[in-house]
This record gives sequence, C-alpha cells and structure tokens, in this order.
Amino acid sequence: MSAPNVPAAELRYAAPVPPIPEHAAPPSGRVLDRRGRRLHDLRISVTDRCNFRCTYCMPKEIFGKDYAFLPHASLLSFEEIARLARLFVAHGVEKIRLTGGEPLVRRNVERLVEMLAQLKTPAGEPLDLTLTTNGSLLARKARSLHDAGLRRITVSLDALDDAVFRSMNDVDFPVADVLAGIEAADAAGLRPLKINMVVKRGVNEHEIVPMARRFRGTGHILRFIEFMDVGASNGWRMDDVVPSAEVARRIAEAFPIEPLEANYAGEVAERWRYRDGSGEIGLISSVTQPFCGGCTRARLSTEGRLYTCLFATSGHDLRALLRGGCDDAHIAAAIGAVWGARDDRYSELRSADTAGLRKVEMSYIGG
Ligand code: GTP
Ligand code: 5AD
Ligand code: SF4
Ligand code: SF4
Repeated sequence: MSAPNVPAAELRYAAPVPPIPEHAAPPSGRVLDRRGRRLHDLRISVTDRCNFRCTYCMPKEIFGKDYAFLPHASLLSFEEIARLARLFVAHGVEKIRLTGGEPLVRRNVERLVEMLAQLKTPAGEPLDLTLTTNGSLLARKARSLHDAGLRRITVSLDALDDAVFRSMNDVDFPVADVLAGIEAADAAGLRPLKINMVVKRGVNEHEIVPMARRFRGTGHILRFIEFMDVGASNGWRMDDVVPSAEVARRIAEAFPIEPLEANYAGEVAERWRYRDGSGEIGLISSVTQPFCGGCTRARLSTEGRLYTCLFATSGHDLRALLRGGCDDAHIAAAIGAVWGARDDRYSELRSADTAGLRKVEMSYIGG
C-alpha cells in the first residue's frame, strides 16, 4: 500500500525508521559492527541524477524521461547533511566522499563542501574530504571546489578513444571535456587525483593499455575496476567481468609493474607501481577478490537513508529522525545501533542468485 503524499521514488526501496536504543552511551569515536569492523568512511550521495547514462550504471531503457527521480523536497538539505556528518564523525568517520549520481549537478554543492571542510575528528584533525565525479563539469568547478575546502578528487573515465567514451556514457559526451576537467582539477591543487576506469569485456578492454600510457608520469593514480552487479538494472553477467589479474598481465606486458604495500588495512584498491618510477596504479577487484573483511564504509542516500552495504536491498531512514525532531544524542545512538548490528559481506557471498536481488542502484547510493 502506498501512502498518498509520499513520492513514488521514495517507495522504491524499503527503509524502516531505525529504533532509538534507550540508555546508549555517547559516541566513543569507535563503533564496531558484528564482524569487528569500524565505521571509518562515509559516502554521501547528494543527488540521484546524472547527466550521463553510462550503460553499466544508468541504462537509458530504465533511466529514461519517465524515470521518477527524487523530488527536491525529498533531498536532505545541506544543513541536514552536515548535521548527520558531524554525528558520523563522532562515531569515528575520518573520510567523507561526496557522490551521486553526479554530485556536481547538485546546485551550490560547493557550499556543502565548505560546511563539511569545517568538521574535525575527535583528535582535532581535518577530514579526508573528497568527491567522485564524471568530470563533465569539472573544468568549470575545480577551482571553486578547491577554494571551498575540497582536498582531492576522483574522476571516472572509461576510455580515451572518443567514440568508445561517447558510446559508454551514452549521451555523446566528448572525452576531451573530461580531460580538460582533469587538467583543471590538477591545476587547482586537487591532489592526488585518482581516475577510475570500469572495465567491461568487449566494450573497453582494449583501452586498458592506452589509459595506462596516457596517465603514467602524470602523478595521477589510474584505477581499474571490475564491472560489478550493483543495482538490478545493468544486466550484469560474470562473462562481462575482466578479472584484475588479467588487467595486471596486460599492463605488465607493456610496462613492467610491481606490487606496493597497502596504505591501510582493508584498502579497496590493490596498489602497484611502474618499475621505472613513473607512478602508481590500482586494481579494484570486488568480484574476483572481495574486500568485505575490511569494509568500513557507510553510505548515506540523497534522501537520508543509511545503507551499510553497496549491495543492500534496504536502508535506515535517518531523515525521519531529523525531521521528527530527534536530538543529536538520539540520532547518534540510532546510527551506532545500526552499525553495531551490521553483518554485510555481499561480495563474499555473490552468486548467480544474489545478482538478481532488487538491490539499490549505484546512481542512487553512489559508488
Ligand atoms: P580512495 O580513498 O580515494 O582510494 O577511495 P576508495 O578506494 O574508497 O575508492 P573509490 O571511492 O574511488 O571507489 C572506487 C570503486 O571501488 C567504486 O566506484 C566501486 O566500484 C568500488 N567500491 C568502493 N567501495 C566499495 C565497497 O564498499 N564495496 C564494493 N564492492 N565496491 C566498492
Ligand atoms: N561496476 C563497477 N563500478 C561501477 N561504477 C558505477 N557502476 C559500476 C559497476 N556496475 C563506478 C563508476 C564510478 C563510480 C561512481 O562508480 O565508474 O567510478
Ligand atoms: Fe553517472 Fe557515474 Fe553512473 Fe556514469 S557511472 S551514469 S557518470 S553516476
Ligand atoms: Fe562492504 Fe558490502 Fe562492498 Fe563488501 S560488498 S566491501 S560489505 S559495501
């Protein structure tokens, strides 16, 4: 049954209001889930909209002109996001990533950056504040994002060949404009700059070596991502995945590489470097080598639902607490309880059956 004045887009996924535990201690800066994993990263989706229609993320047949995106009133305001972010930081979050959809299509997102840049960890340190973008608006916005307090940035780029890139973003967007965005971000001091390439069999695998060639020696870190079965609309099949081991082999044939130590336990990307000193690359192998064991990531959707896994089928409605007049202590207690009950490890359990679940879309929850 649908409530009369709830927008259709909000009824797509279940999101019960989390119970508020009685007698919860205040956040200690270190909350553990049922597998002993800390809450360390918060990924905030600031819009479910995007100006691209990447075939592996927002296929046009589903995300067409009749698709029900969230109406403006459903979105968390910047003040609401900043308030929640502060409570997550009290629980131990040290890294915040803004995502979308495409975060730079949210109007005045720089103002949110400015608010989040003021947060400090309990030890008084600034946060690791970053953002994932498709780069289309970056040439225009890099400087203002940096001035607002953004520290670094990650740009998605799946091909250098213009025809391949245009057909993957499916809105005929030229690669030159994204490359100009990358240059602008670098010039603005958003470093280290990371470039994420999703590799799909038969679609852009021939771009692996050209991408490596283009970005070695630039100081940017190129990461190759295995195509994943996120959401329920991208038609994922195991046959479409190019395993990271194969990516490494192809690169090594062109440029000798060697493995690097992880920066921290549970790092998403496996790090490698070119033996000739021309830089670092990363391999993200969520399909062939899941990294759930060290997963410290929480996700906050555009309308304020907390998800404890990228592959979740339901979330926890924090907006109901915010707009229902709860005080900070109670909301913090609810967040702590959701994290404490968490047992997710989807990538370790993935199978042909789980691929068909009605999982939330990546464009909605953010990469
Ligand atoms: P950095 O601190 O910049 O290295 O961030 P990160 O390593 O978290 O990487 P980023 O946010 O750029 O994520 C890169 C890609 O890894 C995403 O687009 C996803 O495809 C994948 N990814 C990130 N986090 C998760 C996760 O929690 N689970 C799974 N399965 N994949 C993830
Ligand atoms: N598999 C792997 N990565 C994906 N992304 C989006 N959809 C998928 C998928 N199915 C990545 C994009 C971008 C980030 C937002 O998420 O490449 O880097
Ligand atoms: Fe948009 Fe990023 Fe999804 Fe592509 S991968 S459709 S750029 S949100
Ligand atoms: Fe974390 Fe879920 Fe990704 Fe595993 S599949 S790493 S639990 S977000």
